[in-house]
Amino acid sequence: SRIYVITGAGSGIGAAAARLLREAGATVVGVDLRGTEVTADLSTPEGRRQGVADAVEAAGGTVDAVIASAGVSAVSPLTVSVNYYGVTEFLEGIRPTLARSAAPRVAVVSSMSSLQPNYPPLVQAMLEGDEATARAMAEQLAADPRAGGLIYASSKRAISRWVRAQSVTAEWAGAGIALNAVAPGIVKTPMTEELRATPESVAFLDAVVPMPLNYHQPPESIANLCIWLTSVENSHCAGQTIYCDGGSDVVMRGEDA
Ligand code: NAI
Repeated sequence: SRIYVITGAGSGIGAAAARLLREAGATVVGVDLRGTEVTADLSTPEGRRQGVADAVEAAGGTVDAVIASAGVSAVSPLTVSVNYYGVTEFLEGIRPTLARSAAPRVAVVSSMSSLQPNYPPLVQAMLEGDEATARAMAEQLAADPRAGGLIYASSKRAISRWVRAQSVTAEWAGAGIALNAVAPGIVKTPMTEELRATPESVAFLDAVVPMPLNYHQPPESIANLCIWLTSVENSHCAGQTIYCDGGSDVVMRGEDA
């Protein structure tokens, strides 16, 4: 059976993916701040290194697939560190182990926010790799009440671009590793609980994330897509961000985007 490592497996989409995979007979090593096989804080370089080492050890030295779901939506530099570097450095660290699998696959949980207004210099800073510079920029945005939302959107824009750029390189496609992302709309998890709680905040959500197909989605809708993208059957999807968002992308960008 296949061996999966799932970051953010303690809650929401990651927890749903872990449960569905275990039900289907796979081995799952969860990585999260608490409540999983491996405890690791992916907001720091040391936590990422230790998380990779402990996950590979818990997996018995073989990893066939990674689902990277850990993420936060805080208006702070933490969002840059977890949503971007917590994904890229974790994946770079585990890549040599993945490359030894017969059918290695990765699915990253991005967001339809990757299409929302962002702060291009912050996106660039993340893609150029310097975490300290990117965090300092996010710190400044966080201080401006009108600009705080740009941090999350920038982190998701950057991770989708990273996935796209890396997917076709010698390290990923060259090693047979399918690397893709998924972009949910509003998922019914603890992350959005407060936003879904009052009529005022729901009206705001409906304006920025319209979802004509079946409205707000269960975590399983994303988990099942990640499971397919990381299955043996996915031999040829590379570098895509797949919008599974009730139609938000189409409503916002139009039919010929
Ligand atoms: P969630 O809050 O239920 O789960 C996120 C998990 O990530 C939690 O278990 C949390 O402990 C873990 N995590 C956070 N910081 C961490 C750190 N420093 N180190 C290790 N683990 C950490 O949220 P949900 O909804 O399951 O989110 C999963 C992913 O989906 C995130 O990347 C999020 O940005 C993305 N997403 C969620 C949407 C939603 O509407 N809920 C929409 C679009 C994207």
